[in-house]
Amino acid sequence: MAKINITVCMGSSCFARGNQENLAFLEDYIKTHGIEADINLEGKRCENKCAKGPNIIINGVEYNNVTTEMLENILTPIK
Ligand code: FES
Repeated sequence: MAKINITVCMGSSCFARGNQENLAFLEDYIKTHGIEADINLEGKRCENKCAKGPNIIINGVEYNNVTTEMLENILTPIK
């Protein structure tokens, strides 16, 4: 399986608006499913898209207003 790249905006706006929880969710999800080797999880700085945040990019696709429910839906077919 190809590696999945997940980039979480760690800018203060996205972080405060949900990426703190989203990051914790992702770390927990990856650990629980034992898919550490398949996921490349990294952070990035604010890209001035704060109004649409919290923002997360998965394999080049930018997701906006991301919630943990959305992440679960996106990741379920992957694991
Ligand atoms: S803090 Fe994420 S785009 Fe600005």
